[in-house]
Amino acid sequence: MVSYEKIFQNNRQWIAEKTATEKDFFEKLARDQTPEYLYIGCSDSRVTAEELMGAQPGEVFIHRNIANVVASVDLNVLSVINYAVRHLKVKRIVVCGHYGCGGVKAAMQSSDLGILNPWLRNIRDVYRLHKTELQAIPDEQARYDRLVELNVQEQCVNVIKTAAVQQRYVKEGFPSVHGWVFDMRTGMLKDLEIDFRKILTEIQEIYNLTNTDWFDGSDR
Ligand code: CO
Repeated sequence: MVSYEKIFQNNRQWIAEKTATEKDFFEKLARDQTPEYLYIGCSDSRVTAEELMGAQPGEVFIHRNIANVVASVDLNVLSVINYAVRHLKVKRIVVCGHYGCGGVKAAMQSSDLGILNPWLRNIRDVYRLHKTELQAIPDEQARYDRLVELNVQEQCVNVIKTAAVQQRYVKEGFPSVHGWVFDMRTGMLKDLEIDFRKILTEIQEIYNLTNTDWFDGSDR
């Protein structure tokens, strides 16, 4: 465990390392941010967004919460998506879940978790949507892993349900949305390669907030 004092020592060492290779590193950093990615991940301390991606300061706009949920009434995540898409003009939005997620695990159990109840209900809803597939998996660990993946998929769909994403996509053909899962047992990052074109075609009739088809079947 890093002690409180050590954190400030680490910080001074980090400054020294950054400026050793690039003298004006912090002057450049302070000027502007033009991240290409918006990353929405879990708050879990073991899933360190920048480190696992090998990203540098300024490269990724980040939002984290319990179990990487994109809830339709959460002003926090909606503000982040809106700002990232409309102002920073990010090219890609990533929802990154992780196997062994405590939030997803809790949502699989029958117990009163207080303030977490409404939050984890978002994940229980994912379970209900995919109940047939999940109930057909006999092994509990495998079912848990699959719910982690399906939660990522549904939160990606929730990203697509926002007006900011739809409007920019119709106009510019981006941002693209990606679903990832981090496996802390191996350190591997897995791209779920979700077929968004298929999902978009299926849901746009219901969730379209623009006056155009998001996806007309042509290649972009
Ligand atoms: Co988690």
